[in-house]
Amino acid sequence: MAMSIARSLLLHASRSEWLAEEFRRRSFARRAVRRFMPGQDVEAALAASADLAGSALGTVFTNLGERTETAAAALAVRDHYLRLFDTIHERRLPAHVSVKLTHLGLSVDRTACLQSVLELARRAETTGSLLWIDMEESEYVDATLGIYRDAKREISRVGVCLQSYLRRTAADLEALLPLEPAIRLVKGAYREPAAIAFEKKKDTDRAFLQLAERMLDEAANRRAFPVFGTHDMKLVREIHAASERRGVARDAWEVHMLYGIRPGEQRELAAEGTAVRTLISYGENWFPWYMRRLAERPANVWFVVKNVIIR
Ligand code: FDA
Repeated sequence: MAMSIARSLLLHASRSEWLAEEFRRRSFARRAVRRFMPGQDVEAALAASADLAGSALGTVFTNLGERTETAAAALAVRDHYLRLFDTIHERRLPAHVSVKLTHLGLSVDRTACLQSVLELARRAETTGSLLWIDMEESEYVDATLGIYRDAKREISRVGVCLQSYLRRTAADLEALLPLEPAIRLVKGAYREPAAIAFEKKKDTDRAFLQLAERMLDEAANRRAFPVFGTHDMKLVREIHAASERRGVARDAWEVHMLYGIRPGEQRELAAEGTAVRTLISYGENWFPWYMRRLAERPANVWFVVKNVIIR
C-alpha cells in the first residue's frame, strides 16, 4: 500500500483541535507521551541533556509548537529560545536548538520572523551553539529556504532541514550548496500529495541515500556540514561506509535521533566514534507532534493501548 491507512488517519488526526484538547486533558495520554519526551517543562529537557552528555551524546532542544497566530505569541517564542541559548551556555551543555518557523510567526509576519531567526542565530554564535530550522509542510518550503538563505548569508551558525520524500529536494540541495550550508536530512513526517512527494517508502529511502552521498562529497572538503536525522540503521551504516570511502572526517558529519527512539543504538554509535545528538522535545503543545511519531510507526498505537490504557 502506498501510504498506509493508519499513517494517513494519524496524520489527519494530528490537525484536529478537538482531539488535541481531549488528549491534553487525559492523564493516560500524558503518560504515553513520556515515551518520547523527558517532561513537559524545559528543566526536564535540560536535565536529560546533562544525563545524555555522560554517554557522549549531544542534544538538540525543541520547544513544541507550530502555527503561531499572533505577533506577540511569536515574540514570546523567540524570547524563550534566547533564554535557552543562555542557559545552554551557563550549564556548558553540548546542545543545539531547533525551531519551527511557523512557531516563530512565519505566517503572521515574514519580516519579523526573519528578524527573530537572525537574533537567534547570533545568540547561537555567541553561546557556542547552533540554530537549526525544522522543515514543515510543503506549503512552507519556499519561505523556509528563503529565510534560511537570508540568515546564512549573515551568520554561519545556522542550519536547515531538508526532507528526502519531496521530489524537489535534490534541486533544493544543489541551490543551497554554494552557501556552505549545515543541512539536516530527514525522510519527512507530513501528509503530502503524490504529485510532490514519493508515495513509496523505498523511493524516499533511495533518495535519502543519494542526497546523503551528495552532502558527503561536499563535507569531504568541509564545504557543507551534513546531519542525518534518522533511526534507519541500515541507512546509517551505508552513510558511514560512504563517508569512509570519501575520507570525510568523523567530526564533519553527525547523526541525530529522537529522544526515546533506539536509545541503545544512539549510545553505541557514539561509543564507536560517530557524532550523535538526541533531539529532546518539551512543552505543552505536543499533540500534533506526538501524532506524527505514532504515524511513523503505527505499531506504537498498540503499544499505547496495551501499556497505558489497559493496565
Ligand atoms: P523509518 O521511518 O524508516 O524508521 C526506521 C526505524 O526506526 C523503524 O523501523 C523503527 O524501528 C524506528 N522508528 C522510526 N520512527 C519511530 C517511532 N516514531 N517510534 C518508534 N520507532 C521508530 N521531519 C520533518 O518533516 N521535518 C523535520 O524538521 C524533522 N526533524 C527531525 C529531526 C530529527 C533529529 C529526526 C530524527 C527526525 C526528524 N523528522 C523531521 C522526522 C522524520 O521526517 C521521520 O518522520 C522520522 O525520523 C522517522 O523516519 P526514520 O528516518 O527514522 O525512518
